[in-house]
Parts: sequence; C-alpha cells; structure tokens
Amino acid sequence: MPLPDSLVDTIGRAGHVCVLTGAGISAESGVPTFREAQSGLWAEYDPLKLATPDAFERDPALVWRWYRWRRALVEGVEPNAGHRALVGLARRVPRLTLVTQNVDGLHQRAGSEAVVEFHGNLFAERCSDCEQPASDPSVSELPRCPACGGLLRPGVVWFGESIPATALETAVAAAANCDVFLSVGTSSLVYPAAGLIHAAREVGAVCVEINPNPTGQARTSDFALAAKSGELLPELIKALDARPMNTIAEKR
Ligand code: APR
Repeated sequence: MPLPDSLVDTIGRAGHVCVLTGAGISAESGVPTFREAQSGLWAEYDPLKLATPDAFERDPALVWRWYRWRRALVEGVEPNAGHRALVGLARRVPRLTLVTQNVDGLHQRAGSEAVVEFHGNLFAERCSDCEQPASDPSVSELPRCPACGGLLRPGVVWFGESIPATALETAVAAAANCDVFLSVGTSSLVYPAAGLIHAAREVGAVCVEINPNPTGQARTSDFALAAKSGELLPELIKALDARPMNTIAEKR
C-alpha cells in the first residue's frame, strides 16, 4: 500500500514517536491474536476461566497449563519484519517509546530496548501471596514461592487487575509528550491501553493506526493505514531512508 508522503515527512521530522502495539504485530510470527472471529484465542477459550484472579483461585493448574501452552507457542516462533522495523524506526528518530500490550517478548527478541510492557510478560512469575517476583526451580505443575510457600502465578496482567505502576506512568507520560502516536495491531478495545491515544491527541500529536481491519479509532486518527504491520512498517523505514537529504538536514 502506498504510504502518504505527508505521513513519512511527519515521522521524519518528529522529535518523539510513541508506539503502542497489540497482538496484531505478532500475528505474522504465528502468535494468535485475541479477538479475531475465527482465529482469536478468545473465540476458542473463555477469558473468564483463564485470565482473571478468580480463575486462578478456582483452578490454578488449568491456568498454568494455558500459560505453559502459550509459552511453548511463543518459544517456537520468531520476531517478524514488523518487530524488526520498529527497531529500525527507533534508530531513525530522536526518541521513540515503545509500549506493548503483548506479553510475548518478541519486541525484545527483535532488538527493541526499554520496551514498556503494559500487560506484563509471559515468562515472568510472581507469588500470588507475597507479590514478590520469584521462580520455583522444582518445575512442578503448581510452582511455589521459595520465600513464603504461596502459589506462583504468571507475571501478566489479568482482566480486572491494575497495570504495573511504572509501565502506566511511563506510557501515559510518553503519549502526552509525543509528536506522533502510532497504534499498531491492536483492536483498541482494552483500557487503559486504548486510552493512551487520547492523551496523545490532546497534545496535538499526529495519530496513526496500522491495522488491516480498521478499528473504532480509525475515524478519529489522522492516518488509518489498512495494512499488515509486517508489510507496512518495513515500507515506512524504506520511505524514511529515501527522503531527500535536505529534509533530514532541516531537522538537525
Ligand atoms: N498487522 C496489524 N494488525 C493486525 C494484523 C497484522 N498482520 N493481524 C491482525 N491485526 C489486528 C486485528 O485486526 C485486530 O484489530 O490486530 C488486532 C488484534 O486485536 P486483539 O486480538 O483484540 O489484541 P489486542 O488489541 O492486543 O488485545 C488487547 O486484550 O485479552 C487482552 O491482554 C490481552 O493484551 C491483550 C489485550
């Protein structure tokens, strides 16, 4: 899909780009998204039985089986061209903040640094009693906290839980301070992540959505690009590199 020149120019001149990614950026790696009608995880599994504190209290073994399955799935895939292009974008703008709702660690494996993990990480664990990050070397079906003996739980944010304070603060501050806000591969339905764009809009940032299925936020975005992130983001890098030298010089 052709990229609007004005968008390439805006990004090329931006001082701070804030990127919010969702499950869609990992779809081309083979990680299922959550809400897509045929292939989304929530079409097949019930989030209330797997991704809530109550679900864990009711049946921790079931919840652990689900998260181990997802860990194995993610361990078997590789970052894709979309993840890699964001590493490239960070090198081409003075400042980039990457906020992800994904727990798969694929941005980090692609080489992105200082990723703000809004919903935690699939490979982290913490105690459900004392809340301390921990791991159980015994690899038992139900891992226990070595400090207090409580059940360990996956270090992700479940429905009804708060976003880790530092991630929330960093993301809100970045959105409220950026020139360009890129929303990539998210249905924009889950708050507070879906609200970050409002903070960006309030400060006059240019808001861009990259999603083959435009979301409710497409209408109010300055650019809504109906394309796969693994295709469009590398094109953006190429287009940035093809900008005439004089516009790059202007920025400096
Ligand atoms: N490129 C870009 N976007 C894509 C691609 C692709 N190749 N393939 C699919 N998408 C889009 C879909 O059109 C959809 O809008 O990715 C979006 C994925 O939406 P969701 O499945 O709702 O994922 P996400 O927005 O990340 O969900 C938010 O919900 O259940 C929770 O905690 C989970 O972090 C997750 C949160």
